[in-house]
Amino acid sequence: MGKGIFVTATSTGVGKTTVVCGILHSLRKRGIDAAAFKPIETGANDIKVLSKDSDAGKIALTLEAGLNNPHEFSMYRLRQPLAPFYAARYEHKTISVSKIYRRIFKIKEEKAILIVEGSGGIRVPITEKYDMIDLIKKTGFPVIVVSDIELGTINHTAMSAEILRNNGVRVVGAIYVERKEDGIEIAKKNNAEWIKNLYKIPVLGIIKYKRVFKQMKLENQNEWTNKHIDVDLILREAFYGNDIEK
Ligand SMILES: Nc1ncnc2c1ncn2[C@@H]1O[C@H](COP(=O)(O)OP(=O)(O)OP(=O)(O)O)[C@@H](O)[C@H]1O
Ligand SMILES: [Mg+2]
Repeated sequence: MGKGIFVTATSTGVGKTTVVCGILHSLRKRGIDAAAFKPIETGANDIKVLSKDSDAGKIALTLEAGLNNPHEFSMYRLRQPLAPFYAARYEHKTISVSKIYRRIFKIKEEKAILIVEGSGGIRVPITEKYDMIDLIKKTGFPVIVVSDIELGTINHTAMSAEILRNNGVRVVGAIYVERKEDGIEIAKKNNAEWIKNLYKIPVLGIIKYKRVFKQMKLENQNEWTNKHIDVDLILREAFYGNDIEK
């Protein structure tokens, strides 16, 4: 029986896949039998064969698997770039939260570590009744919050962590991503530390901006990510230092 981590973010497009693939790459390099899963991907046009640029495609390639088995790495692939509930409704589909977590538990049974990537942030509707935090609660996994390093992040990161904690979810910490070259230097320099001190949210990493990031090979992106996050700290904090079976 393996262990799981859930990666959420303060919003969409903040850096979840970057973090998921970085951690996955690092675990595999250590010989740990790790997996990653993106239950719901919206804005996806690769329904039968994964595109190398989709989230599930990046996960597959990080695992050195082919792109031919979308359902190994994701469950719902929806075309509209909308929140899951609306993207599914557009295609007259209903997402089943219980199907998702049953699948999550199955993968976790088979692997040493499973990393799950959410969609958007925590208050993203999945069905009329359930949102992402309900899925997170069902998994029981500790959570990493991926945040922007820029001005505004104190508000977004603290609110995300507070809601997670109020729902009984353990917040392992936050990983900050610098996706812009400009920005307010003093905010970028201090935000993570302030959030840690004020709200007791550990800093698990600060991923520095790289101008050519998007053009880099996935393996190099993963190496760059890993240079800026502390995977040992993440494992220790997430699993209280428990040994991971290889
Ligand atoms: N260090 C970096 N420097 C520059 N750009 C970066 C860096 N890290 C990530 N990015 C870019 O930021 C964008 C968003 O990252 P990513 O796809 O990981 O976000 P996400 O939270 O997974 O998005 P989604 O909500 O769509 O799943 C990507 O285009 C990625 O290439
Ligand atoms: Mg993503």
